[in-house]
Amino acid sequence: MRDSCGRAIDYLRLSVTDLCNYRCRYCMPAEGVPKRPHRDILSVEECVEISAAAVRCGVKKIRLTGGEPLVRRGLLDICRGLRAIPELEELCLTTNGSLLAELAAPLRKAGTDRLNISLDTLRPDRFAAMTRRGHLEDALAGIRAAENAGFRNLKLDTVLIGGFNDDEIGDFVKLTADHPWEVRFIELMPMGPCAHWEKSRFLPGETVLEKIPGLQQIESQGVARRYRLPGAKGTVGLISPLSHDFCGQCRRIRVTADGKLKGCLHSREEISLRGLHGAELEAAIRSGILQKPQRHYLTDRPSDTPRTMNQIGG
Ligand code: GTP
Ligand code: 5AD
Ligand code: SF4
Repeated sequence: MRDSCGRAIDYLRLSVTDLCNYRCRYCMPAEGVPKRPHRDILSVEECVEISAAAVRCGVKKIRLTGGEPLVRRGLLDICRGLRAIPELEELCLTTNGSLLAELAAPLRKAGTDRLNISLDTLRPDRFAAMTRRGHLEDALAGIRAAENAGFRNLKLDTVLIGGFNDDEIGDFVKLTADHPWEVRFIELMPMGPCAHWEKSRFLPGETVLEKIPGLQQIESQGVARRYRLPGAKGTVGLISPLSHDFCGQCRRIRVTADGKLKGCLHSREEISLRGLHGAELEAAIRSGILQKPQRHYLTDRPSDTPRTMNQIGG
């Protein structure tokens, strides 16, 4: 269905947990988030019921997010449940990759079509420092496992952070020469722990084009402007929510792990879906779509949402 700005909404990002095995400095506080009682988090059945209702409202693609979705118990049941919704065209998942070595094949078998894997640096010491507890080798093993399990069109998401990984842009772009991946550079959005980081940390996507002048523009896809190195197997994407906001073409709604429908990543407006069923649930989703905010205001001020990214799912 269309929202009040005429945007066709067909993409649901469903967060299945706010927990994560990493503590990325821009995303989560060092101490993590308080563990919530199980009853606060959507059950497998609720995830499937809400997704089915969203599909009746016109959603065609669902992406499972977190926190880190792979730490969620019952994740494979959720995948199987969503895959059984006949009108759902695509089931995707965004992960930090750390647990994929074990879970890529089961995820594929459970009906997941496509994976996006977050990877902010290719240097082991930086990886450990940014994630506060992760190991680069696990993420790289996860990428290999995803390929071996038959996942294609892998996307690697790299948040551009001034003074942290801007000297690695060339290394990331080089990966696309030999691998059929899309490496996407994402502008850091001021929210949660990074809401008030100094300006030099926030780099425009154009930094990539300045550093790698050989990139040739190809057609855009979703929210990413896309490029290719001549002769490369893979592509490079720029997701620039600040310098080139894509709110006018936004097709998304989100449901948080505690069952709140969010029309916009950056708005504080939320509609609780818990306890609703059938026509009532569908009506709540439709009203959330109709109330979807027109845009974010990140160029004027930090995000309006009081949530940290792990409590939304990106
Ligand atoms: P595809 O299905 O491959 O197009 O995936 P995607 O780009 O929708 O999903 P992914 O989880 O890989 O998102 C990439 C990143 O873009 C996220 O991690 C966020 O940082 C950012 N992002 C996603 N959705 C939004 C949005 O609605 N607004 C803004 N400002 N940023 C977003
Ligand atoms: N700005 C941009 N991207 C972010 N992510 C988490 N926090 C932010 C932020 N403030 C990214 C993660 C991951 C995805 C789910 O969201 O790095 O790629
Ligand atoms: Fe976890 Fe992703 Fe947040 Fe890092 S950015 S702490 S991997 S949810």
